[in-house]
Amino acid sequence: MGLYRSVLRPLLFRADAERVHGWAIRAGELAASSHWLCSTVAARQAPAGERLAVTVGGLRFRTPIGLAAGFDKSARAAPFLAALGFGHVEVGSISAEASAGNPPPRLFRLPLDRAIVVNYGLPNDGAERVAQRLAAAQRPSVPLGINLVSTNRGAGAAPASDDAVIADYLQSVQCLQAHADYLCLNLSCPNTPDGRNFFHEPRRLQALLESLDRLGLAKPLFLKVAPFAGAGDVEAFLACVEPARCVSGFSVNLPSGKPGGLVTPAARLERMPGAVSGRPAADRADRTLVELYRRMDRARYRLIGSGGVFSAEDAYRKIRLGASLVQLLTALVYEGPAVVSCINRRLAGLLEADGFGHVGEAVGVDALNTRRAPIVRSD
Ligand SMILES: Cc1cc2nc3c(=O)[nH]c(=O)nc-3n(C[C@H](O)[C@H](O)[C@H](O)COP(=O)(O)O)c2cc1C
Repeated sequence: MGLYRSVLRPLLFRADAERVHGWAIRAGELAASSHWLCSTVAARQAPAGERLAVTVGGLRFRTPIGLAAGFDKSARAAPFLAALGFGHVEVGSISAEASAGNPPPRLFRLPLDRAIVVNYGLPNDGAERVAQRLAAAQRPSVPLGINLVSTNRGAGAAPASDDAVIADYLQSVQCLQAHADYLCLNLSCPNTPDGRNFFHEPRRLQALLESLDRLGLAKPLFLKVAPFAGAGDVEAFLACVEPARCVSGFSVNLPSGKPGGLVTPAARLERMPGAVSGRPAADRADRTLVELYRRMDRARYRLIGSGGVFSAEDAYRKIRLGASLVQLLTALVYEGPAVVSCINRRLAGLLEADGFGHVGEAVGVDALNTRRAPIVRSD
């Protein structure tokens, strides 16, 4: 990580953030086309031992640490990304139709806050194109998650009807589920009107889940939700999901808008529309994680935690609060790709020091039996 931080990052941070993201995906795509390169990198970066291995939704993950949706939006580089030491790679969000997303500029770095402001608005190549790409590519060496969302047709488009939004999700599921090890429905994009508000109406979520049950899903399905305002909202959400047979668990998205307490001056932030990832996203994500863990049927559901994971300590905290899998994205930008194997190594050490033979034994140990779970962040 030293070389990345001291040499590469200062150079990359001089260029526009979206442009650098594009370069990273292009480089990953080229690397992914070489089976030899992927297996050589994987041999150096793969997590060792069984302590980190975990089974979720019937899938075996060699480590709980995965790549969050939003980095590889159209599934161009998954085999190479997997080789960096991740236990899973979630690509997307992908919608039924291709979308250009929101107008640029739409990605901004906040180095003082170790954060990114993202207002992409779900640009992607569309489900059919991505399905063709995945059919032609080598399969990643770890479980592949495919994150699906309803098509963003742009700010000028008329609002889609309920039936059209649900049909959009169903079309993507049908098109892509054969290529996925698990599916994740993004029900909460903070940067599109449909994403922000659509599923606030419980009957819409029920209608979507009933349609999915009728479809008969062949893969585990996770629902990616925005952080909840309080315990009442968590309970209402779980009650709404309860009748659906197709749901394996939940993942936590970024909240919309800017959180309080950012160090970046307000005058700069005003020029950066979007939601904030990284460090400032951690606390709200952790609170939702622990509230879900306490209230959900733990025999039935599992949690994917993300938001501000930069270190093994951050990942371990989310695991102890209830996450069976943990994802990161912003840490790749600030720490470089070596952060993944660093987290894996150190996480194994943390588990061993606390007497856990397997990571699964640590899941949720700080969530139960306390009125308020400790949420302690490393810096
Ligand atoms: C640039 C960027 C793009 C993202 N795009 C998506 C997306 O398309 N779909 C989605 O479900 N989440 C998306 N996210 C949210 C991430 O998957 C993740 O939940 C969030 O960034 C918190 O993790 P982090 O703090 O490690 O970045 C995006 C985040 C960032 C920073």
